Amino acid sequence: MSGVATVGKSLQLLFLISSTIIIINCLSSSCSQEGDDLLEVVRAWNADIPTSWVPGTGPCQANWSLVTCDLNDLSIVALNLSNIGLQGPVPAAISNLTSLQSLDISNIPDKEVQLNAVTGDLSALAPLQPNLQELYAGFNYLQVDKYPEVIYNLDNLVVLKTDNCLIPGPFPVALTKLKKLQVLWLGNNSFTGPVPSELGNMTSLRELAIWGNDYKSALPPELGNLGNLTYLDCQNCSLWGSLPSELGKLKNLQRLYLNTNTFTGPIPQEWQDLTSLYILDLQANYVFGTVEPWVLGLANLSQLFISYNQLQGPLPSIINNTNTRATAIWINCNYFTGEVPVFGPTIVDYLDSANCFDTTNENILSDTYCARRLNCQGFQQDVTQNGCPPCPDGQYLANSTLCICYEAASSSSSKKFPVGVIVGICIAVVVLVLALIVIFLLLRMWRKRTQHESRHDYFEDELSAHDILKWETPKGVQRYSFQDLANATDGFNNAREIGSGAFGKVFVGTFPDGKTLAIKRSSTVAFSARSQKEFRNEVLLLSRLHHKNLVRLEGFCDENRLQILVYEYMKNGNLHGHLFTRKGARYLDWYKRLEIAVQVARGLDYLHSFADPPVIHRDVKPSNILLDDNLDAKVSDFGISRETPEFITHVSTRLAGTAGYIDPQYFLRRQLTPASDVYSYGVVLLELVTGQKAIRKNEQGDELNLIQWATPRLEEGGIEAIVDAQLEGNYPKDIYLDMAQLAVRCAAFEKDFRPSMKMVLSILEPQLEASQPVRPIPSNDDVILQAWSSTLPGAETTPNHSDGGPVSNEISITVLEPR
Ligand SMILES: Nc1ncnc2c1ncn2[C@@H]1O[C@H](COP(=O)(O)OP(=O)(O)O)[C@@H](O)[C@H]1O
Ligand SMILES: *[C@@H]1O[C@H](CO)[C@@H](O)[C@H](O)[C@H]1NC(C)=O
Ligand SMILES: *[C@@H]1O[C@H](CO)[C@@H](O)[C@H](O)[C@H]1NC(C)=O
Ligand SMILES: *[C@@H]1O[C@H](CO)[C@@H](O)[C@H](O)[C@H]1NC(C)=O
Ligand SMILES: *[C@@H]1O[C@H](CO)[C@@H](O)[C@H](O)[C@H]1NC(C)=O
Ligand SMILES: *[C@@H]1O[C@H](CO)[C@@H](O)[C@H](O)[C@H]1NC(C)=O
Ligand SMILES: *[C@@H]1O[C@H](CO)[C@@H](O)[C@H](O)[C@H]1NC(C)=O
Ligand SMILES: *[C@@H]1O[C@H](CO)[C@@H](O)[C@H](O)[C@H]1NC(C)=O
Ligand SMILES: *[C@@H]1O[C@H](CO)[C@@H](O)[C@H](O)[C@H]1NC(C)=O
Ligand SMILES: *[C@@H]1O[C@H](CO)[C@@H](O)[C@H](O)[C@H]1NC(C)=O
Ligand SMILES: *[C@@H]1O[C@H](CO)[C@@H](O)[C@H](O)[C@H]1NC(C)=O
Repeated sequence: MSGVATVGKSLQLLFLISSTIIIINCLSSSCSQEGDDLLEVVRAWNADIPTSWVPGTGPCQANWSLVTCDLNDLSIVALNLSNIGLQGPVPAAISNLTSLQSLDISNIPDKEVQLNAVTGDLSALAPLQPNLQELYAGFNYLQVDKYPEVIYNLDNLVVLKTDNCLIPGPFPVALTKLKKLQVLWLGNNSFTGPVPSELGNMTSLRELAIWGNDYKSALPPELGNLGNLTYLDCQNCSLWGSLPSELGKLKNLQRLYLNTNTFTGPIPQEWQDLTSLYILDLQANYVFGTVEPWVLGLANLSQLFISYNQLQGPLPSIINNTNTRATAIWINCNYFTGEVPVFGPTIVDYLDSANCFDTTNENILSDTYCARRLNCQGFQQDVTQNGCPPCPDGQYLANSTLCICYEAASSSSSKKFPVGVIVGICIAVVVLVLALIVIFLLLRMWRKRTQHESRHDYFEDELSAHDILKWETPKGVQRYSFQDLANATDGFNNAREIGSGAFGKVFVGTFPDGKTLAIKRSSTVAFSARSQKEFRNEVLLLSRLHHKNLVRLEGFCDENRLQILVYEYMKNGNLHGHLFTRKGARYLDWYKRLEIAVQVARGLDYLHSFADPPVIHRDVKPSNILLDDNLDAKVSDFGISRETPEFITHVSTRLAGTAGYIDPQYFLRRQLTPASDVYSYGVVLLELVTGQKAIRKNEQGDELNLIQWATPRLEEGGIEAIVDAQLEGNYPKDIYLDMAQLAVRCAAFEKDFRPSMKMVLSILEPQLEASQPVRPIPSNDDVILQAWSSTLPGAETTPNHSDGGPVSNEISITVLEPR
């Protein structure tokens, strides 16, 4: 006891001494003034005061959080106020913090941190001009009508980030006077063009990100003067004309994003000199001509994205990977001809769709029969114009040798307004108004839809593009390298394929530690940082869902913009294969079917009631119900965005789901609710009872819908009229009648008449508990049967092995493909 008291006393003493020291320090350097200034700033900015900011102590003496000090004169040199809940304009009190060299007031959009919402024209920053070198203000909705002019005078800035701020107006040309700038991020605002040639004067620049604006101009050749540039991002900002050959002078350029524009013409020869280039993204342009071997051979090139262009001619193979550093090459949706190129095993390629390989047709542009080019959404340039592909809308062919298109000549000639023009304008206005109404309605529909699907947006686009590997792996899942997965599947060998779905192919992989997993590999690339962000959000979401009736996510790979998910391996495949093949169905006796119905319902109930907002599966069907060694059912393919690359540019009007299982309410009104899953579940339940597919053709070739087929029969003829003949009469009539009636209710047309998954469970679970398993006929040559019968004793009390218990050793790998 007395020992404790002594320790307490000495602690008190220590505290006294240390606070005395602080006070002395403060007196000697009037530090509490700086502290007071800082407190005043944060208070005036409506944010909470950090707990370590004790009034009366000095920020540099008492180690305040978020503050960095110069230890020589104890002045504040850096202040990081990102995500601390700042609201409103920069307070005037900040003018006293004149020693600041770095200020971060950015807002990283993330539900789990405090959001900043800085507004206004930032004019209070003016007094910081002498020392301020770094200003980070990204992701604040500044609500200004033009670029904040105060920044033009902060001429000591080295780093400036005002990306994602929704700033309208012309490109802030005056920024080009800030000669010390090395990092300039202006992406995703609402700037209009043109991109000024004066950018070429900013020779100190190392990073220039001006993507996601609406310039409607060419890219100025003067950018070729920025010899220190390592990162240039001009994606998705309405740029046209040629790819400037002058960029070939950028010897230090490592990452070049020019994708999603309307660039025309060839890949310039001069780019051979881009020896540092690591990522080259030219996707979704109108680039024309051939891809010469030097492109694939660029010394430092790792990732090449040239999909969705007008490229033609043969492509060299890269068999010996020591010749190249390339790890990913995406060439789909072009007009390549000749031999299908072969790329070595460490290169991810996506060339299996939409080119003209195996064709020697020279005049390929007039050949509308190239293999599967129709798979390329929004890719429709088939007609030639003077030997060049047609120009994008609103542009004309300016150079027919190189096939370069420019903006259409502006119609300055019509000064007087003839009647025709006035009529034309009237019609245009009417059409415009109608179009706006349609867009408004579509947007409303879209909003409603996405409200249900909204998930966390954790990642800043530029960050993820900037630093692809710097993403923290969520707990409980493993991050695999592409190489690991390639090794586990013998280079994604066809012999390893265990399934393919609308999203991609599924492979079984064996890992060095003995695990067997299923690997699901998307054959789309993440077109934009956004869809990569989506993928990461999905991984995060999936990693948080754990239930014994959900197929467990073991890991993922997002190297090279690939989207690969790794799941536990479900040895007995999918329910579809069992239910609709003669051999399989034999082993699905009435009890097993009831048990599967309950297990699926448990999985779905978890999805609906665990997460807020609920996770809606959207594609419940037998091929997404997988069976493990014990023939226990787990739901797979949940939580995956069902959007394909085309949605990046278009408002979604397409449905997710599979014919026969789609909720008619979702179909008609795009209302996505948990009740849509209940509908699909009802169809599956009816398939279990009847052994019939959701949709099948009758002798006349008409499509029959299972719900419509079964409902009247059930009413008139009872359960015998619809039950699966393969059960050979071995089933409890009362339970099966209940199941059939429940299925019909689940599949009610109006969603309000459908029960919730909880109610479904409250009906089915007691039936299962009151039943005894059926022993199947033993047979030695059947793996399924062996696996099943080995677990039969005590089947009712099978342990919940994947529900918090030890992780199963078996995992599966899935590759996603576009729908
Ligand atoms: N974890 C897994 N274990 C074993 N097989 C799987 C696994 N995941 C998927 N499969 C097989 O691959 C098929 C296609 O899977 P998936 O791509 O999820 O289907 P879809 O995209 O059509 O919904 C499944 O029906 C199943 O046979
Ligand atoms: C200041 O605080 C940080 C964390 O808040 C801590 O890591 C560091 O050691 C502290 N420094 C001193 C001198 O107390
Ligand atoms: C400010 O802090 C945030 C969150 O800790 C961090 O992500 C960011 O990089 C910091 N900013 C600077 C300029 O260091
Ligand atoms: C700056 O500090 C002085 C005292 O040193 C104070 O009088 C003044 O109000 C402060 N300015 C602002 C804008 O807070
Ligand atoms: C663009 O900026 C806005 C506002 O900060 C943000 O909501 C949106 O997600 C950004 N878009 C992209 C593609 O990053
Ligand atoms: C900046 O560039 C423009 C056009 O590229 C040029 O005319 C001008 O002289 C340059 N200005 C300075 C100050 O270097
Ligand atoms: C380019 O970078 C080098 C090395 O960092 C530097 O010495 C040089 O001054 C830079 N060039 C310009 C124009 O800033
Ligand atoms: C391009 O930008 C527009 C808005 O500026 C945005 O709506 C669209 O999603 C972006 N497209 C891609 C592929 O990033
Ligand atoms: C090649 O690319 C890597 C990855 O970005 C980079 O670290 C390296 O410096 C580059 N090499 C050259 C010579 O630029
Ligand atoms: C691959 O290229 C390297 C160097 O060019 C050469 O030494 C090696 O023999 C080649 N391997 C094969 C299998 O062609
Ligand atoms: C097209 O561009 C090339 C290269 O710049 C030039 O040599 C040629 O004269 C141009 N042709 C026409 C018709 O403008």
